[in-house]
Formats: sequence, C-alpha cells, structure tokens
Amino acid sequence: MAPTPLEDTQVAKDTLSITDNRTGKQYEVAVSEGTIKAMDLRQIKTSDEDFGLMTYDPAFMNTASCRSAITFIDGDRGILRYRGYPIEQLAEHCTFLEVAYLIIEGELPSATQLDKWVHDITYHTYVHTNITKFLESFRYDAHPMGVLLGAVGALSTFYPEAKDIEDPANRYIQRVRLIAKMPTLAAFAFRHSRGLPYEFPRNDLGYIGNYVNMTFNIGGQHQPNPVLQKALEILLILHADHEQNCSTSAVRSVGSSHVDPFSAVAAGIAALYGPLHGGANEAVLTMLDEIGDKKNIPGFIEKVKGGADKLMGFGHRVYKSYDPRAKLIKKVAYDVFNQTGLNPKLEIALELEKIALEDEYFIKRKLYPNVDFYSGLIYQAMGYPTDYFTVLFALGRTPGWLAQWEEMLKDKEQKISRPRQIYVGAAQRDFVPMAMRK
Ligand code: CMC
Repeated sequence: MAPTPLEDTQVAKDTLSITDNRTGKQYEVAVSEGTIKAMDLRQIKTSDEDFGLMTYDPAFMNTASCRSAITFIDGDRGILRYRGYPIEQLAEHCTFLEVAYLIIEGELPSATQLDKWVHDITYHTYVHTNITKFLESFRYDAHPMGVLLGAVGALSTFYPEAKDIEDPANRYIQRVRLIAKMPTLAAFAFRHSRGLPYEFPRNDLGYIGNYVNMTFNIGGQHQPNPVLQKALEILLILHADHEQNCSTSAVRSVGSSHVDPFSAVAAGIAALYGPLHGGANEAVLTMLDEIGDKKNIPGFIEKVKGGADKLMGFGHRVYKSYDPRAKLIKKVAYDVFNQTGLNPKLEIALELEKIALEDEYFIKRKLYPNVDFYSGLIYQAMGYPTDYFTVLFALGRTPGWLAQWEEMLKDKEQKISRPRQIYVGAAQRDFVPMAMRK
C-alpha cells in the first residue's frame, strides 16, 4: 500500500501515521507483520524533484530483506526452530539428510520420500576426476576453506545446465549434487592439506560414515566410531540453517542475479570464511592457545574489555541470551571427550565462559557463548586441524543455503538485490591534468 496523505479520513488501525515536518504533510503507511514497507516511504517528498524518503540501515540491523518460512529464531528467548520443529528435537531424533529434506522441502519426509532422497544423494557423491587435477594446483598449505570455495565455484563449469534455474527438476538435481558432492570436496580439501591421496566415496556407507571415511581412511584401516559420527551428525544438524545470516544473505543476494546455484553457494562459502562468521570457531582455538593457561584468563578478559581483543565465540547479532546451539554442543562435547580423552583447552574454555558470564561488561551487552565457542574443541578432538573447522560449518550449512536460494527464486516479491546508498563523496568537479595535481 502506497502512503496516502492524510486528509479527513479516519485513521486505519494497522497503520503508522507519519508527519513530515519539512512539509507539514501527513501520511498513513500500512503496518503488516511488524514492519512497514521501505518503498512506502518513497512518495514522501519535499518537492517533485525530490527522490523520496529512504531508510538508512547499514548492516541490516533493522531491515527484513525477505519473508521466509524456513527458520525461526527468538534471540531473546534462545529459541531456534527449522520449519517449526525445535532444534533440540531434530538433533535428538533425525539424521542430517532428514533435516536437510525438512529444511528444503518444508516437511519431514515419509519413509519413501527419505529413501529416494538418500538414494539420490548417495548416487551423486562422485566428482569428475578433473576436479582432483584442479585441486592439485592449490599450494600444499592452501587454506581448506579457500580450496572448498574454489572447488564449489568450479562445479558450475562441470554442470553448465545448472544455470537453467527456471526448471524445478533441474534445480532439484543441482541441489542433490551440491549436498552429495560437498562431503567429497570437503574431504578432498582435507586430504590435499595433508598430502594424502584422495579417498573416493563409498556408496555402501551413510552420509556421515562416507564423509568420515573419505577424510580419515588410510589403507583401509579406519575404524568408524559411532559416538563420534553421531556427534558430527548433530553438529551438522545444528549448523544446517540460521535464517538471514551473512553467508545466507550472500547466497540470496548473488542468487538474485539468477546465477547458477554452485556460484551462489560459493558466495556463501566466501562469506562464511570470515572470522566474524564461520571462521570464528577457528579463531576460538587460536584464542584459547594464546591464553594458554587458566591463570591468564583475567588478563585476557581485561584486554577484551579494553577493546584490544574480542572474546571469540561470544556474542551474536540475534541471540541476546544463550545460543541454543551452543547449549547442545556443550553436551555433545562431553560425549566426544569420553571417547577421545579430555581436550585440555576445555578447562580454559569453561573457566573463560564462567568468568565472562559473571562480568558486568558481558552481562550489560548480553554476550553469551555462540555456536562456535565449543564446536572447535570437538572438531579438534575428532582429529580435524584448526583451519579445517569452517569447512565443517559449510558442510552443515549447505542445505540451508539451498533452501533459502529456492525460496528466494520462488518469491514473487524478490528482484535482483540492489541496495541504495547515501552518496557522501565529492560534488562534480573538473578533471585536473597531471602537471597541475598536488
Ligand atoms: N567480545 C567482546 N565484545 C564484544 C563481542 C565479543 N565477542 N561481541 C560484541 N562485543 C561488544 C561490542 O564491542 C559492542 O560493544 P560497545 O557497545 O561497547 O561498542 C557490543 O558488544 C555490541 O556488539 P556489536 O559488534 O554491535 O554486535 P554485532 O551484532 O554487530 O556483532 C558478532 C555480532 C557475532 C559479529 C560479534 O558479537 C562478534 O564479533 N563476536 C565474535 C565473533 C564470533 O564469535 N562470531 C560467530 C558468530 S555465531 C556463528 C555465525 O553465525 O557465524
């Protein structure tokens, strides 16, 4: 609804009345689902030449960019649900592929639907052998997230038909390919970083079992540990979607140009790589290493409070209470450490959490542990190197990116993503020849 200047009409209830003090004009703007439409403000002008009122919202602090039916978060109450189901119940009862189906298709699968879904994914786990040649050209110490980013982007060149994004059947097969090949590429990135030969997918194993085998098997000697595999499955479920976070917004924004899904997901991987997003679990371990001993915690906390450092794995744009994923991960940590022996850094992390949660600085800012605070410790205990943690996050987040991409494409209100700006640069000026420049 466009804003209508208020005349003698009665004010409707679900509206916002705006008085433009520059002109004295009044407007009535519809309020729906707790929002007003930014475009409704455009007609608020001081003159015919005026572009119209815009909103200014760096980092989207208070702007909904889409309507979504996938993930619900109540940041104040620490609630996370996929398609209405509490994350705690899904983590307890589901496999990762079942959750992936739920997130993408909207409903939990029937037994037949799940069979087909698992079958389709299992039979697309192989990648073209040219991919392995391509991976060889990365340096021996290439960051695995950079390797994954490059490999997923490269997949679009292997499946050029993926750009036909209007065809639902085509979109389905590309989704299946991405979910199926992500573990293969993630495992190859791991093997590359260790100079190990690639281990090819085994379709007789489950999604997690196959991934772990491709990662750790050497000479057929890998002994699967069901407790560790279950823990990894739970971690992937907890990472599967998180509504409009930085990487998902990147997938939606890049996907809105109607590029193929491999390129859109590569954009998500790039966003996730950063230390303020998925890279935080890696940064947590670096931080715990730097602290080194419980006795150094008070000094570190003082540094954080002075602004010289950040307490990595703490704080969240949306959660202003304990991240429900962190709660579940803390539980999983104990299951894993029962198998692997205690990670000595856990003691530092527990003490750090205790001190921070009692400290006025963190209480006032509502800073609590987030998903990344304990996940790195678990990954390390499982045998993954620090720079590999974010790859595991990407593996878990792939269904979420794909579901959000699909939802964006089907949403009739969406167009190519293109924010506005407030230009604050120089006014027009004349070219200055080189000889006259200062
Ligand atoms: N350590 C110390 N102070 C912090 C932290 C932290 N981890 N996080 C926020 N603050 C302070 C911040 O300095 C600011 O203080 P002040 O009001 O005095 O300026 C206040 O708390 C509000 O922070 P903000 O930067 O406005 O919050 P944001 O919503 O923009 O940032 C965040 C959210 C996650 C980027 C930030 O909390 C952070 O950098 N945390 C550490 C990195 C991290 O753990 N990231 C993983 C996020 S969860 C996984 C994911 O979704 O990727």
